[in-house]
Amino acid sequence: MVRKRGRSAPLDDSKRVAPRRPIINVNTLRNDTFLRALRREPTDYTPVWLMRQAGRYLPEYNATRARAGSFLKLAQTPSLATEVTLQPLDRFALDAAILFSDILTVPDAMGLGLSFAEGEGPRFARTTASEEAIRALRVPDMSSLRYVFDAVAQIRRALKGRVPLIGFSGSPFTLACYMIEGSGSADFATVRRMAYARPDLLRALVDINARAVAEYLTCQIDAGAEAVMIFDTWGGLLSAPAYREFSLAPMREVIATLDARVPTILFTKGGGAWLDDMASTGASALGLDWTADLAVARARIGERVALQGNLDPLVLLTDEETVAREAEAVVRAAGPAPGHVFNLGHGIVPTTPPEHVAVLVETVHAASRGSRERPSAAASA
Ligand code: CP3
Repeated sequence: MVRKRGRSAPLDDSKRVAPRRPIINVNTLRNDTFLRALRREPTDYTPVWLMRQAGRYLPEYNATRARAGSFLKLAQTPSLATEVTLQPLDRFALDAAILFSDILTVPDAMGLGLSFAEGEGPRFARTTASEEAIRALRVPDMSSLRYVFDAVAQIRRALKGRVPLIGFSGSPFTLACYMIEGSGSADFATVRRMAYARPDLLRALVDINARAVAEYLTCQIDAGAEAVMIFDTWGGLLSAPAYREFSLAPMREVIATLDARVPTILFTKGGGAWLDDMASTGASALGLDWTADLAVARARIGERVALQGNLDPLVLLTDEETVAREAEAVVRAAGPAPGHVFNLGHGIVPTTPPEHVAVLVETVHAASRGSRERPSAAASA
């Protein structure tokens, strides 16, 4: 059923769901600051977007979600996904849009039966914890995820070149965590035990996921995504050797398959100790959570990749002065070298006051413009 390919062979055209388009010309974008920063080119200011920027902290999101009936219905209806993707851009001067969807669409398409119970996290009807279940698993037919690619194309049209659109996927390992446990978990103990007791099985699972993620992201790029981000939310739970084998190696494979068609952002939450390994994957940028020191990361990584992050999302639950102060501190820590995309260290929390997000975005733009103007002012004095 699943044809074997070389580790980094490009996808054959029979796998493509959306028609292949020419590489997007960034000149058609009115604001390409984000893409320039990912390429480590100079920018007038530091671009900013926020993980979960379309979400429950916005009353207009909650209204659209109520109209849709459920989160899944919202994510599966391209016109509604387009509407909520654009909502934060209408309020704040954000420099990128991110596809409204979820990482768990892929295991759902593998037949695991995803649901979101009200007030709870995600849940799968079937898990893939046994040898039998893992051996039976197949890369899903991408046509079952057409609603995602249709949303990407529709969002691109609706954006009209305002800002670039980011596509995304879960990492092969993070998807495996939910597929094995069937839901969220504080420590994903079953998965970590499997890494030592049955490494062959976990490897088989993340290998299938890597092929699925590569096809999924390729289809998003074909449909119009101008950058892609891999969310490795749980890779940081692993020991260093287990991280390299079960999380990093399959992400490296995904990035190789994408073949630099668009910039890629790799985010391993809790991965601060492994930035050198992450930079060696060929990713354009590394996402940092709030526990990492941006200045130390830059010093260690040098000019190899761009960095994205890393304000603690809980700063947004304080007051406007604190938000501005802490945002400026992150801009300062990133330093004057090109190649910083401002973001939170993880997703925005639902109790965030939207006014604080406005202060954050304005502060990042103003503080970074200021820090770029100073050297030339001094030079002309
Ligand atoms: O960043 C964005 O604005 C894009 C949209 C996006 C969502 N989920 C929307 C969403 C993205 C990029 C994700 C990724 C995602 N989903 C991850 C990895 C990112 C990370 O946080 O590290 C994970 C682990 C998931 C799985 C998932 N989806 C969980 C655990 C939950 C429940 C979370 C909660 O706070 O209740 C979701 C649901 C979800 N995905 C929501 C949103 C806006 C909330 C659903 C709702 O409206 O009720």
